[in-house]
Formats: sequence, structure tokens, C-alpha cells
Amino acid sequence: MAGIIGNAMRFLVTGASGLVGSQVAKDLVDLNHEVHSSYHDAKPDHGIATYLDLSRLDDISSTLNETRPDSIIHLAAMTGVDQCEEQPDLAMKINAEATKLLARQAAKQHAFFVYVSTDYVFDGMKKMRAESDAPNPLGIYGKSKLAGELALNSLASPYAIARISSPFGLHKTKKSFPIWVKENLESGTDIPVLVDQFTSPTYVPNLSDMLIEIATRKIAGTFHTAGATRISRYDFAEMVADKLNLDKKFIRPASMSDMRWKAQRPKDSSLDVSFASEILHAKPQKLETSIQLLADQLSQIS
Ligand SMILES: NC(=O)c1ccc[n+]([C@@H]2O[C@H](COP(=O)([O-])OP(=O)(O)OC[C@H]3O[C@@H](n4cnc5c(N)ncnc54)[C@H](OP(=O)(O)O)[C@@H]3O)[C@@H](O)[C@H]2O)c1
Repeated sequence: MAGIIGNAMRFLVTGASGLVGSQVAKDLVDLNHEVHSSYHDAKPDHGIATYLDLSRLDDISSTLNETRPDSIIHLAAMTGVDQCEEQPDLAMKINAEATKLLARQAAKQHAFFVYVSTDYVFDGMKKMRAESDAPNPLGIYGKSKLAGELALNSLASPYAIARISSPFGLHKTKKSFPIWVKENLESGTDIPVLVDQFTSPTYVPNLSDMLIEIATRKIAGTFHTAGATRISRYDFAEMVADKLNLDKKFIRPASMSDMRWKAQRPKDSSLDVSFASEILHAKPQKLETSIQLLADQLSQIS
């Protein structure tokens, strides 16, 4: 393997073709780091593509032995909240057991480990949860991600947990919430949007900067690396429509009780980001700023 030049580091990014991972891998490559981009189904566009099926637990240590990263940003997960409810064993295997094995192997190799977790570790009964608040997940997805967090407790070496909430941004196949809103409003399609579910929407390029800073500076601890605005889905949709000059009349108010979900979701999974704002140079952004940046990105590709 070629030597690393200057301050460049060797990274392993899992889930490197996902919504968040593709941005992280791209940004790391742009920063001239050596990036091993692990994937399962979809080959990543950035970094050195490295096949790894996390459900094959025996393959994990060999991938780490082959790639020898200085830092790992672990984003791969079974992220379908209802799918996790239907396949709880697989969810626990991928989100918890694989995380534990990856982290243990990372510790053996003295690699810093950043585990990207979720606002869904909380029950949503209280807004703006801080890192010190006790988790209490409602469904299998949140339980499996929390089990991944807890598996790190026994590690001898330092690690970070970065919890995020409703990530959004551009991706070649995945349509995050504002893109779904935009496309439907442009085609004049009514969309039911929840007035009673609150999150801290997290703009992926801003998140990527925070994750890369944590992984590069190797800052241990638990961080809420979400956006800096708590908002309902409905108000978020209206903000997108306003920024993109789209007709808001197609946004139809809906309630969580109207949804036919398999898994129960938290009503308010907003996160208090003051700790990350204090510690990191890359600060959690206000939603208005993030939507403006997304609008700028969209205008460049249209
Ligand atoms: N999306 C959200 O609303 C949300 C909210 C809070 C926290 N998070 C957390 O943030 C992280 C990134 O989320 P995201 O939105 O970027 O997710 P995503 O777009 O669904 O990407 C998840 C990635 O996980 C990989 N993956 C799934 N099963 C795998 C397996 N068996 N082996 C190896 N890789 C596998 C997928 O790879 P392939 O495509 O190659 O199969 C995919 O690239 C996750 O850890 C998630 O739990 C997400």
C-alpha cells in the first residue's frame, strides 16, 4: 500500500454509497486523504471501493486488516425503520453486532472509531435532547442503533458517537425530504406532511464537515451533530417551498396518527447541538442557511 503524504490520513468509510457516506467519502478524497469506501450493493463513486457485507461478521476483521485505517467513519446500517421492525434479527446483526466487531478490531489496530448514530435512540417525549439524556428507543431500529452505541462502552481505546437527525442533501438515487417536497410541488402533486413530528434536520455537507473534524482530530465522546433548528416536517416543507418559490397549496397537513407505519416513531426527536457547537470548528448550521445552500446546489445542476 502506498505511503501517506503530509497530514493525509487513511480512512475507512462504511456505507460510502449512502446518503451521508457518499458526501463524506467525496469530501475526504477532496482533502487528499486515502479513503477506503466500503459498500454492499451500490459501488461508491468516491474513494477505493471495498466490498464488505456487514451481515458476514467473519469478513469484518479481514477488511480492517487489509485497509489498516487511521480512522473509521462507520455509517453503514440497516436504516429502514419499518424494515428493522420486520427483520429484527438482521437489524441487530448489522446495526449492533457488526458495529461491535468493527470497533473491537479498530481498537486492536489503534484506529479511531466514529459511530454515526441516531435521534431515534430517544423516545421523543421531550424536545431538544442533550447527550447526557437517557436514551429510550421506541422501535427495533433505535434499539439496534443504541445496542451499537452500548457495545462501544467496553472498548479500551477512545471512540466517538455522533447522533444525527433527518439527514438531507443531494444524492444520485436517494431522495431526501426536501427533494421529495420539491419534485411533488413542481408536478402539482398533493403531499401529506406531518404537523406533529419534530426533528433537527441535518444538512449532509455540514454533517460531513463535523464528522470529518471528529475523525481527523480524534475527539472522543458523544456528540449531537445535527442541524441547529428544531422544526416540524410541515414547517420544513413550507420553508423549502418558500426558498424554491414553489406553490405551497399542495402541502397537506397530516398527523402521525394518520400514518400506517409498522414501527412507532418518536414525536419529537430534536437534538440539542450546543456541545458540538462549542467543541467543533465546523458548527451545526441553522436550517435556513442549509436550505439556502441546498437551493444553491440545485441551481448549479439545473
Ligand atoms: N436516514 C436517516 O433518517 C438517519 C437518521 C439518523 C441517523 N441515521 C444514521 O446515519 C447513518 C447514515 O445514514 P444514511 O441516511 O446515509 O443511510 P443510507 O443512505 O441508507 O445508507 C446506508 C448504507 O449502509 C449500507 N449497508 C446496509 N446494509 C449493509 C450491509 N449488510 N453491509 C454493508 N453495508 C450495508 C448501504 O450500502 P449499499 O447501498 O452498498 O447496500 C448504504 O450505503 C446510518 O448509520 C443511520 O443509522 C440516519
